[in-house]
Amino acid sequence: MTPDAPFAGRGVLVTGGSRGIGRAVVLAFARAGADVAFSFRQDRRSADAVARAVEELGRRAVVRQSDSADLEAAAGWVDEAARELGRLDCVVTSAGGTGSIGWEVPRAEEWTGLFRTHVVGPYATVRAAAPHLRRTKGSAVLVASIAGLLAYPEEIAYATVKAGTISLARSLAFALAPEVRVNAIAPGWVRTDLTRALYDDPRARGAIERAIPRGRWGEPEDIASGVLFLASDGARFITGETVAVDGGELLAWRIGLER
Ligand SMILES: NC(=O)c1ccc[n+]([C@@H]2O[C@H](COP(=O)([O-])OP(=O)(O)OC[C@H]3O[C@@H](n4cnc5c(N)ncnc54)[C@H](OP(=O)(O)O)[C@@H]3O)[C@@H](O)[C@H]2O)c1
Repeated sequence: MTPDAPFAGRGVLVTGGSRGIGRAVVLAFARAGADVAFSFRQDRRSADAVARAVEELGRRAVVRQSDSADLEAAAGWVDEAARELGRLDCVVTSAGGTGSIGWEVPRAEEWTGLFRTHVVGPYATVRAAAPHLRRTKGSAVLVASIAGLLAYPEEIAYATVKAGTISLARSLAFALAPEVRVNAIAPGWVRTDLTRALYDDPRARGAIERAIPRGRWGEPEDIASGVLFLASDGARFITGETVAVDGGELLAWRIGLER
């Protein structure tokens, strides 16, 4: 292990690693010396571009199309990735997106779809990775959201389910202790495809910026930086914790309070 490559010789698995926050996490680990396996759901072109970028950094990339909402599929590819990488030191679950806007969500399928993506998928992934992580005394980081820490009626199903992601990290931290640490990271507003419509709307973009004490939107690399910290030896006594990476927005929550 060198200061420039603290994850050299390590194997990392990321769900939803082809775009946005997951992509930044994949590239940050590769820059830090790790070989990386990652999944995507449908956009193979983006996945291939990320794999090429990892290989240009001199690291191995293992890519797999796998719907993280599918429990059996999620479990299956973890073993395969661990075999191909030779070891697994960290698992990051980032796959997923949001639901409809507003507090009324009449379709049960939307609730169950979000629950499968943000709770069942991460659970299945960490469960399958547990024997590998126990061997390496590794860790898992679940990407949640500050929406799961707040009252957020604007996306009620998403917020409720992300609270489930946070709860899952706490329970898994107990279940897999003492060998494996499990934490959640809770991003605030991050500039990705998921939030592009709001970012492209000058009024919405400005309102959000004003709600963030650091005065800007998050970049995917801001979240990746937090993930790498939680996966690092520097976080060796941190488990079951949720770390907000939101530019201070939780301190000054006011978006959506106007009626
Ligand atoms: N952006 C934000 O402001 C923000 C804030 C808080 C939390 N988050 C959370 O951060 C995570 C990543 O969001 P993002 O902004 O990076 O989104 P994004 O830019 O839309 O990227 C989503 C990634 O997840 C993959 N994915 C989506 N559903 C999947 C599934 N069912 N199975 C496997 N892969 C799937 C996508 O693959 P394909 O392209 O192949 O579909 C893509 O690689 C999500 O959990 C989101 O809830 C985001």
